[in-house]
Amino acid sequence: MSIEKRWENGLEYIVIENAFAEAKIALQGAHLFYYQKKGESPLLWLGDKAQFEPGKAIRGGVPICFPWFGKNRADVTLLQHGFARNQLWEWVSSEEREEGSTHIQLQLTANETTRKVWDYAFILQLDVIIGSELVITLTTTNQDQKPFELTQALHTYFNISDIDTIQIDGLDGTIYHNNLDGQEYSQDGDLIINQEVDRIYYPHSDSTIIQDSERTVTLISEGVHALVVWNPWIDKAKAMVDMSDEGYRKMICLETANAGRDIVVVEPNGSHSLKAIIRTNLLK
Ligand code: BG6
Repeated sequence: MSIEKRWENGLEYIVIENAFAEAKIALQGAHLFYYQKKGESPLLWLGDKAQFEPGKAIRGGVPICFPWFGKNRADVTLLQHGFARNQLWEWVSSEEREEGSTHIQLQLTANETTRKVWDYAFILQLDVIIGSELVITLTTTNQDQKPFELTQALHTYFNISDIDTIQIDGLDGTIYHNNLDGQEYSQDGDLIINQEVDRIYYPHSDSTIIQDSERTVTLISEGVHALVVWNPWIDKAKAMVDMSDEGYRKMICLETANAGRDIVVVEPNGSHSLKAIIRTNLLK
């Protein structure tokens, strides 16, 4: 196993390599932006126009949306998806596990900037296990005297071979809120993406599967009742400075989330965790 720190355009990140995989985690945002299992193509989409700049969230990988998902409901002028993805986290520990995987832990605590927009004492901890599967756990502990509400997400960008050829299984019959028109619908059959999609699903099962030509990717979500599915499609991809025009064809976001009507209340001294377990199976 090897672990080292590197810099890219002013962003410090950790590079982990072990018998199973290689991964990279930026300290800004505790942002896992690369994970590649040996013998497979990279699991996470990272655009060739992704910007690595202090204060800007990286487009791709697994941004952490916290302590609110999407727009802040009380003040829409605040940063979309909260502050966690723009903050510098502390690298707490790294550990080689018995079976050869690597456990990395990072943490963010309340500071002047977070207090300005969200006046609570908290510890936010990210645990990433890099092995033959990828396990990401985000735990919030309330260190304040008063309870707080959270919406949040592991905003995972998956690499896909082409948007026209993938199918997403596990959502049939599931109610979803369509963020594009504000209406609720029921998913009829497996999900095929052939237009802009920005939806909060409330799935019955904890697993969602991307059927791709090269592999299947299974996402198991715990500690949540919502799964966000997002693809910006043609016009929005063109409008984004950090996505190439064709970028939308190669990515799909499946986001393990407490979002929409899935709001979590964390009591003083209480904690809440959400977890994404991601497994891949090569087809050829
Ligand atoms: C998704 C939201 O989770 O993230 C979309 O549902 C949003 O509405 C997308 O456009 C990307 O957000 P951002 O802030 O990273 O551009």
